[in-house]
Amino acid sequence: MFADWITFRKQFAVTQRYAYLNNAGVAPLSAAAVHALRDYLDEASEHGALRYRNIVEGLESTRSAFARLVGAAADEIAFVANTSDGLSLVANGIDWKPGDRVLIPEHEFPANVYPWLALERKGVVVERIPFVDGRCPPEEIARRLPGAKLLSVSAVCYANGFRFDLPALGEICQREGVLFCVDGIQALGAVPLDVKQSRIHFLAADGHKWLVGPEGAGCFYVDREAMDQLFPAKVGWRNVKNDLDFANIDFTLKEDAGRFEEGTPNAPGLLALGASCEALLSVDVEHIAHRIKELTDHLVAELKGAGYHVRSPRSGQDWSGIVSFTGDKNDGERLAAAQSEGVFIAYRDGALRASPHAYNNFDDLERLMRVLHAQRPK
Ligand SMILES: Cc1ncc(COP(=O)(O)O)c(C=O)c1O
Repeated sequence: MFADWITFRKQFAVTQRYAYLNNAGVAPLSAAAVHALRDYLDEASEHGALRYRNIVEGLESTRSAFARLVGAAADEIAFVANTSDGLSLVANGIDWKPGDRVLIPEHEFPANVYPWLALERKGVVVERIPFVDGRCPPEEIARRLPGAKLLSVSAVCYANGFRFDLPALGEICQREGVLFCVDGIQALGAVPLDVKQSRIHFLAADGHKWLVGPEGAGCFYVDREAMDQLFPAKVGWRNVKNDLDFANIDFTLKEDAGRFEEGTPNAPGLLALGASCEALLSVDVEHIAHRIKELTDHLVAELKGAGYHVRSPRSGQDWSGIVSFTGDKNDGERLAAAQSEGVFIAYRDGALRASPHAYNNFDDLERLMRVLHAQRPK
């Protein structure tokens, strides 16, 4: 099994300067993504589209790499511009009736809030499920689920890092006949996620966080069984079966997830995303998760020892790569002080947020703790 974190770290040029602990914000590009982008630039500048077949093959490799990452089939994956784009395809593709209920947890990133609120104009009722002690209890979700049309959750909460028990939620959704939609961006590449095991109908994620790909290139999974419940919300020349037969108009949708792609894809971004997914798959996401657990466990212990309050739930399967913590009213200054020392963390939902990936190391955490020690909470 892969265990060489020193070699892995070398694939991230950002580590030469910074303790980059903001992978839940915008992560640095992996070397694999950088190489794929450079190859694309050479190809497009030296050959134009004369060898576009190579690009098409590369895009299909991205589709299958993402499919493997989430446990789906390649024909259940569509390319999207970002997470919001994928979630919007769901919100705007279902044939809603007035009174239909959508459930979302509290503390969702707005990408998983506004697409549903926009449906209120159609009479859809959006309910927020409260958090208790930093967790969104599955029992509370189960209590509210009967009669709902759709449940949409982030696999991992962007603010405090709480990881939802997707297999448990998928099971109750199936029991109640509720569609299950997941914003996967804070989980994919950091912790294992299997769409079939979790009975997920729809999942969307951009590649710019734990997948260490570029911004603006994402994937959307649609369970084959749920494909016909979703009409393509955006229609262009590519949704249809005979998309290359420009002179013959025949509005027959593709049978696979390709029906959700309306026009020319973001080829450079998606090729880079695919290369990054392959690099992570070759390390194995289980293994990456283990490393992230080790790093975050250490960080949590250090933070507590230094007098910080850790807000992230850490027991059982609740943990993730996000460690949210507060000191006192001077947290804003701590953030700025860290940044001036080349240590990158974030401030979200009233707390500092560190999010180490597997390429980070204990020295990076030490650099963060040094800045924080200099500013211990009073
Ligand atoms: C949970 C979650 N969803 C979505 C996004 C970003 O959405 P998009 O890919 O549409 O830019 C973020 C970014 O912070 C996030 O934390």
